Amino acid sequence: MKRDPVAFLASDMIELRKNNLEWIIRYLEGGSKPHCIVNGKEVLMLNTNNYLGLATHPKIIQAAIDATKKYGAGAGAVPVIAGSFDLTKQFEEKFAEFKEVEASILCQTGFAVNSGLIPMLVGKPDMVVSDELNHGSIIDGVRLSGAKRIIYKHCDVGDLERQLKETEKVGARRICIITDGVFSMDGDIAPLDDITKVAEDFGAMIFVDDCHGEGVLGEGRGIVAHFNLQGKVHVEGGSMSKGFGVFGGTVAGSKDLIEFCANKSRTYLLSTAHPPGVVAANKASIEVVENEPEHVKRVWEHTNYFKKEVQSMGYNTGNSQTPIIPLIIGDPGKAQELARILFEEENIYGTPIVFPMVARELSRIRVQMNALLTKEDLSLALSAIEKVGKKLDVI
Ligand SMILES: Cc1ncc(COP(=O)(O)O)c(C=O)c1O
Repeated sequence: MKRDPVAFLASDMIELRKNNLEWIIRYLEGGSKPHCIVNGKEVLMLNTNNYLGLATHPKIIQAAIDATKKYGAGAGAVPVIAGSFDLTKQFEEKFAEFKEVEASILCQTGFAVNSGLIPMLVGKPDMVVSDELNHGSIIDGVRLSGAKRIIYKHCDVGDLERQLKETEKVGARRICIITDGVFSMDGDIAPLDDITKVAEDFGAMIFVDDCHGEGVLGEGRGIVAHFNLQGKVHVEGGSMSKGFGVFGGTVAGSKDLIEFCANKSRTYLLSTAHPPGVVAANKASIEVVENEPEHVKRVWEHTNYFKKEVQSMGYNTGNSQTPIIPLIIGDPGKAQELARILFEEENIYGTPIVFPMVARELSRIRVQMNALLTKEDLSLALSAIEKVGKKLDVI
């Protein structure tokens, strides 16, 4: 009998559905902002990384329009061939100044930074010491590198130190400690100040993925500014696609690092550069964060209020310290049911997060605050979350 070479496609999906692990893609019919139309229905959106609401900021949109009119829609080439514009240089200089580092580079995405740069920073003779809850793109980057990977317990600097002592016995060429700055599923902050001290003792390089810290921590500058660690962290990876509301990955650090990245990171070298409109919008976004501090202030006010309220209802928000607020339910089916009822009956859009994003028994709805939400929006969301939580017996 002839075998069907692609039969696994459908059977894998059946398996995912059976285990309540299927991702349902919904479509926004308009901008990404708190009040938006999703699948033809007006909902209150509580699940984007657009923490400051900058995805629809008029100055940023205008910058994209102006640059598109002047430069056109696409870059036409990878950055090192003919895809970099004077706009790119302006963005990179601005971003370096904002992050208080020597230089920066605009890469395709945050994922591309991790999967392209990490395998160049470390290789087979090296050792990576990685937080157990690091983002999947870090895990993929480390796998590609071929370096030996040691996992330390989540945010546990004592364990990190123990693991580093083990690496000394093995004698690696380079040691690299890698951590998310803000953990995307739990909203807690890596103890980067203590990590830095330990790294110095062992001569280890520090790579922090600041994708969810930027725009939020350190008045928008990210985790390094938050802990006053300027000059002590070797590699800051980031994303313009989250708090800054636009699109792209970034690397910030020394001039040597940025030249190395531009010459060696395979995702930077082999993938087309951003459209000019995106580059200009990214620069405008940094200027907005600098000149309009009210966005960062507001997202923190919402965060503190919302977290206190859901906790007093009995929700477990884990170790959240940022605008990422998980409502940890446990059972994946219940987490999905909670999200479904909130969406269908209460017009609240919060995404269930299940395996493989988090461990099965830590399934949750991840709520994310947005500076554009109003007090009325928050009250509406809170009463719906309380009502449905009680109905499903999760609080
Ligand atoms: C911690 C972390 N790193 C990297 C990425 C990837 O960033 P980007 O969306 O720019 O590819 C994400 C996005 O989900 C993330 O949460």
